[in-house]
Amino acid sequence: MSTATLPDLHPLLKDFLSRQRHKLLIDGAPVDAASGRTFETLNPATGERLGTVAEGAAADVDRAVAAARKALSGPWAKLSPAERERVLHKAADLLESRAEAFAQLEVLDNGKPIREAKNGDLPLAVGLLRYFGGWPTKIHGETTPVSVPYFPGAKFLHYTVREPVGVVGAIIPWNFPLLMAVERLAPALACGNTVVLKPAEQTPLAALWLGELLLEAGVPPGVVNVVPGFGPTAGAAIAAHMGIDKVTFTGSTEVGREVVKASAGNMKRLSMELGGKSPNIVFADADLDAAAKGIFMGVFYNQGQCCSAGSRVFIERSIYDKALEAFAARAKTVRQGNPLDPKTHMGPLVSAEQRDRVLSYIESGKKEGAQLLAGGAAAPGAGFFVQPTVFGGVKDEMTIAREEIFGPVASVTPFDTVEEAVARANGTDYGLVSAVWTKDVKKAHRMAQMIKAGTVWINCYHFVDAAAPWGGVKQSGYGREKGPWAIENYTTLKSVWVDLN
Ligand code: NAI
Ligand code: MG
Repeated sequence: MSTATLPDLHPLLKDFLSRQRHKLLIDGAPVDAASGRTFETLNPATGERLGTVAEGAAADVDRAVAAARKALSGPWAKLSPAERERVLHKAADLLESRAEAFAQLEVLDNGKPIREAKNGDLPLAVGLLRYFGGWPTKIHGETTPVSVPYFPGAKFLHYTVREPVGVVGAIIPWNFPLLMAVERLAPALACGNTVVLKPAEQTPLAALWLGELLLEAGVPPGVVNVVPGFGPTAGAAIAAHMGIDKVTFTGSTEVGREVVKASAGNMKRLSMELGGKSPNIVFADADLDAAAKGIFMGVFYNQGQCCSAGSRVFIERSIYDKALEAFAARAKTVRQGNPLDPKTHMGPLVSAEQRDRVLSYIESGKKEGAQLLAGGAAAPGAGFFVQPTVFGGVKDEMTIAREEIFGPVASVTPFDTVEEAVARANGTDYGLVSAVWTKDVKKAHRMAQMIKAGTVWINCYHFVDAAAPWGGVKQSGYGREKGPWAIENYTTLKSVWVDLN
């Protein structure tokens, strides 16, 4: 594709990228890793180096935790709730004013198409800062009518206070690098915590740049520390660190299990947002045009690299052949290409490793006898592209129907009854999200009751908001990010008794 039609990079982004070598952000200052080591982050659309990044490890996590602990009792703790709100709102305004530059950075580091970065990631990230920016003045305890049986007639005052948890360790993935960082930082900061954030090694740049923006917004040094690095070193050091009070983790269920084990040393509080294999169930009485869009977007958004991808598509048998054919035909029209081009629908996967992983799932689908109806291969070009792929006639026991693929691969299968759809939808170790398409209100709500998942979308897909809870059941994890539930997660409740006698 000709690069002549591409928009110029935003001057602020050019300036940021021209540093070439990006440092850790600890105690408000850019620093090299203690080891002096660095790693490269690539542009997945071209495979070329985008920047060199300091490689944090255990010694750097120690430094970051020390800064975060110190910051817990520094100027940050002295800000009034109203002042904390102003800081978060300032951050929202700054991010909004630089939305174009941050969107382009997401495209360059992650590979997602600019139209998604601009219309999804950025407004959602700004929305999270605004939503949680409103919380500090509303976080309060309660008074409780208490009774003490061995002291009849006595009067007590009892009240509760919500306090910050302390130092929060945030380990985040590469699929929504900026959004995941903001989703952790906004509630953690609203509640008065300090944070050590480890972005994914594939996409470290947005979190580093956001860390600088937060300093500019008035977050004091040491409150937000950003330590890029690899999972088994920097990530594991956060999970096990005795100076970290809570870990919020998003990533694979496999690594999530390791984080839970490592957290036991000091009984860290945890919120875990893990994998999914989510069902998208289409009944014959649905608005079929809307459902077709929902199936398509459900599985192909962000190149399918969504914990909430609707990767298992169940279609009622009477419309199965026609709907499947239309879906496969549509998958063949997807424009793949340079993700900076506003006309591009789908960019590359995040890394060569992820591309190869997805291709091996596609091979297993072919070998285990699923019908390949669209895609099925890497797309040409230097980047890590995989064609949008549709398998029909998928059986529940096939690998592609059971394991999280995290790429643009749909497994489509027919069903006959509500009971069958529910049983098969629930026949997975995961339970993150689900969707149901039908015009029958009773059927929709019956399904919503029976499906075991953290979210049920009815006649829509991939809707998220700062005010709505997000998280899973079963091996998709526990805890809820967003909404008032995040405030509970990022605070502890203290019980105070006063003898009034
Ligand atoms: P991952 O689970 O290894 O990585 C997620 C984060 O955890 C990264 O920041 C990574 O550095 C960190 N990490 C890795 N090992 C760690 C350890 N031992 N201790 C602490 N932190 C550690 O995911 P990966 O390898 O990038 O992708 C593999 C698969 O995981 C994907 O194909 C997908 O199925 C799933 N995944 C799910 C995500 C979700 O949003 N639910 C996000 C990313 C991956
Ligand atoms: Mg990994």
